[in-house]
Amino acid sequence: MRITVMGTGYVGLVTGVCLAELGNDVVCYDIDAEKIRHINAGHCPIYEPGLDDMVVRNRGLGRLKFSADVADSVQHGDIIFIAVGTPSDAQGRAELSYVLSVARNIGQWMRSPKVIVDKSTVPVGTAEKVEALIAQELERRGLTSTAGQQAHDLSYCVVSNPEFLKEGAAIADFMRPDRIVLGVDPGPYAAQAQEMMQRLYAPLNRHHQRTYVMGRRAAEFTKYAANAMLATRISFMNDLANLAERLDVDIEQVRTGIGSDPRIGFSFLYAGTGYGGSCFPKDVQALQNMGIDAGYPLRLLSAVEDINQLQKLRLVDKLTALYGEELKGLTFALWGLSFKPNTDDVREAPSLLLVQELTRRGARVRAYDPVAGQAACEALRNDLGSDVFNQQFTLVEEPYQTLQDCVALLIATEWQAFRTPDFERMKGLLRDQRIFDGRNMYEPELMKQQGLDYHGIGRIARVLPEPKLQADQTAVERLVRA
Ligand SMILES: NC(=O)c1ccc[n+]([C@@H]2O[C@H](COP(=O)([O-])OP(=O)(O)OC[C@H]3O[C@@H](n4cnc5c(N)ncnc54)[C@H](O)[C@@H]3O)[C@@H](O)[C@H]2O)c1
Repeated sequence: MRITVMGTGYVGLVTGVCLAELGNDVVCYDIDAEKIRHINAGHCPIYEPGLDDMVVRNRGLGRLKFSADVADSVQHGDIIFIAVGTPSDAQGRAELSYVLSVARNIGQWMRSPKVIVDKSTVPVGTAEKVEALIAQELERRGLTSTAGQQAHDLSYCVVSNPEFLKEGAAIADFMRPDRIVLGVDPGPYAAQAQEMMQRLYAPLNRHHQRTYVMGRRAAEFTKYAANAMLATRISFMNDLANLAERLDVDIEQVRTGIGSDPRIGFSFLYAGTGYGGSCFPKDVQALQNMGIDAGYPLRLLSAVEDINQLQKLRLVDKLTALYGEELKGLTFALWGLSFKPNTDDVREAPSLLLVQELTRRGARVRAYDPVAGQAACEALRNDLGSDVFNQQFTLVEEPYQTLQDCVALLIATEWQAFRTPDFERMKGLLRDQRIFDGRNMYEPELMKQQGLDYHGIGRIARVLPEPKLQADQTAVERLVRA
């Protein structure tokens, strides 16, 4: 089938490459002409295991092209995916301008029937907005007046098909999805659109049917509900981990104890330094705002977000309890900059907040990440300002060299490469032989045997600092009074 993907970012590139791999004729378009030039020159713009090879193979076979020409790109696909970003706006609502601009482009340039697929994560009701904008453009061109109605063979249908891939495992997730959510509403071209989408995804449904067809609003809502649920599990465990520390309980034992219940399961139950990335933080906020706008604020999600904000600085709480609030004259090593392993994505990564907080308190940071170093440097230069960045932050190319002249090591990303390090060597390099492990990578008992002073999250019964809770004090007082 002829496919166009509008937006060649993380989701767009993976979608385009995987659909080409399945034999489709794919054009990936991006408004960023430099990015397209870069890809056409043979460089993959993101780190994702296996992606480079697939790009090369499918370009070689002539079924994957990258273009910065909007008219050609829109005209190419019978199915057009919208896969542009939907970042948070200043109020935490999903910024829809990129999606709507693509909708306008489609209405402006389409010359044949199209199935338009919202793959970006978009608030409930966006498919209707996209449809209306296309109708408006077609009307402006004098071609049609009612959304979806046939005129000059320009039928179209907007469907919702949110993406559930995980960065770091994106290709496997796309090729072997747990589910494919397809939102279709009744309309003149809807039956054809649904049939085309099912044909497109048929190779992914061979083992068993994974496609769930529902209304467009339900499909849009499903994506936010899934991310909010996962974020809730993480904050729930982090909240319990902080309590576990005070009750002399090992949260890892609790995790296995509850995860073994099939109603609960083991996934997303790890305590740590909080969630980050390009999706959970913005999607939780966007869903909260959908609730507010609809007159039903989601109280649970407010707590999920508050807990996560506190948790991102939990390692700093632990560290200042030992070194004091002022950290001038101290250098800390940091392993891991990406928001999770197997990606170079540092958007909303807890590591960035850690570096900001440590440098604000006067410390220097020496950091290492297997792939995200450059992306982190760009973000930090911006966040810290050039002076602080140059004077207080150093990116190191090798994990053990990072520990040179440092008092302690902080871990912010659970890269496999950090799982079984040479603890003897670490001990020889770290002045205080101390590890603050934000991802609970090591066993406290083993650390004790190694002679390392180990601080995990919810892992050991130590005298810990009170977290700097900025929780609703009146709610706490109400509880105390009750
Ligand atoms: N990254 C993930 O893991 C993930 C997973 C599931 C869903 N999503 C959702 O998918 C969407 C895209 O996310 P992403 O991480 O791929 O974003 P991204 O920032 O990596 O990529 C977006 C791309 O869109 C391009 N773009 C912006 N405006 C454009 C326009 N008018 N026309 C064409 N291209 C345009 C940008 O130049 C950029 O290359 C978001 O809604 C996100 O929430 C992301």
